[in-house]
Amino acid sequence: MNTLNHPSRRHFLTSDTFASPLISPLYLSAPAVVELVQRKGLKACLTGIADFIQADFMRWEDFDKSARVANHSANGVIELMPISDHSTYSFKYVNGHPQNTAIGLSTVMAFGVVADVATGTPLLLSELTLTTALRTAATSALAAKFLARPDSRVMALIGNGAQSEFQAFAFQHLVGIDTVRLYDVDALASAKLMANLSGSGLTLVLCDSIGQAVQGADIVTTVTADKSYATIISADLIQPGMHINGVGGDCPGKTELSADVLRASKVFVEYAPQSRVEGDIQQMPHDFEVTELWQVLKGQQTGRDHASQITVFDSVGFALEDFSAMRFMHAAALTLGMGERLALIPQLEDPKNLFGTLLKSTASARLEASERLCAT
Ligand SMILES: NC(=O)c1ccc[n+]([C@@H]2O[C@H](COP(=O)([O-])OP(=O)(O)OC[C@H]3O[C@@H](n4cnc5c(N)ncnc54)[C@H](O)[C@@H]3O)[C@@H](O)[C@H]2O)c1
Repeated sequence: MNTLNHPSRRHFLTSDTFASPLISPLYLSAPAVVELVQRKGLKACLTGIADFIQADFMRWEDFDKSARVANHSANGVIELMPISDHSTYSFKYVNGHPQNTAIGLSTVMAFGVVADVATGTPLLLSELTLTTALRTAATSALAAKFLARPDSRVMALIGNGAQSEFQAFAFQHLVGIDTVRLYDVDALASAKLMANLSGSGLTLVLCDSIGQAVQGADIVTTVTADKSYATIISADLIQPGMHINGVGGDCPGKTELSADVLRASKVFVEYAPQSRVEGDIQQMPHDFEVTELWQVLKGQQTGRDHASQITVFDSVGFALEDFSAMRFMHAAALTLGMGERLALIPQLEDPKNLFGTLLKSTASARLEASERLCAT
């Protein structure tokens, strides 16, 4: 990804190469990412992103990692999620405002940047709202491949909002789920999910309650949005051998699983320092035992130990998943010739003459502009 090389690049930095692909980041708008997913196919995108996430988690020690920076307010949170390896840096801006849908806005909205570590030059600016849904579902399915019973076929899907279809398709294509039992407090959200999944080949069972939805489920995905200590899954609802994919408990004061469910389970997280603050395990003592997913992927720790064990993936979303997803989208866009070059950074003949960009190109206009600027 690092295409820059200082000495040989210098002569390109002239005003007539203002939009040089070497130094102008690729911009992937939301419509561009929609088109990219349509052209590549949803299954290929989910599979490809999961593969990139797995490959990056396998080289965990290469990354400079930190918990995300969160700015909380009464209705929600805005977070910045940076990460880098020796050559590539990325960050995501993302919000979480559960009440937004009531005023016609998404609960989760995001965009992000990939940059070259050697020079700090931005390489990609991308929408990440759709990409977040893809990477979250890909991560959930990847974790379930290692943690759920291999014969899992039935999934309960609690919370039928923006993320839910992506979760259903990822579990169908990557895990082998053939039946989804769905429930949401909002009947219209469930009707939307039923409509969007019709024709998917999945058997859909609309349920009246959480209790009904989890009956007979091998996997339970909770992906609700409510900024409260909610209890979507309590200990009386779980059965031996279940895998719980907890997606919506991802912020201080925002949980979905009761402490008893966590105590009864073997719990897996993405990055413990962040998950202990944001995940369902925020309810537990600081030394509550958890295993990081990368350790299982690398074979350093066991995942599920036996068929009747209850496993929990306490997902909060980690910066490395966005790094991997942007890496996948960037590569796919370049292959398909998609996206546009963005004149985001001033490109200078003399990098010390930033002021010169304010002056017009002809000598007289430059003088005139200079005089005008100096007079103000
Ligand atoms: N872990 C991650 O990486 C990750 C990534 C993206 C989103 N999320 C989280 O996932 C959650 C869902 O996101 P979204 O974009 O789908 O939000 P959304 O607002 O579009 O959908 C959430 C749905 O949950 C339903 N709901 C709320 N309380 C419920 C309850 N008690 N029982 C059943 N349903 C209930 C709502 O009616 C709504 O339909 C959010 O909490 C978000 O923060 C986590």
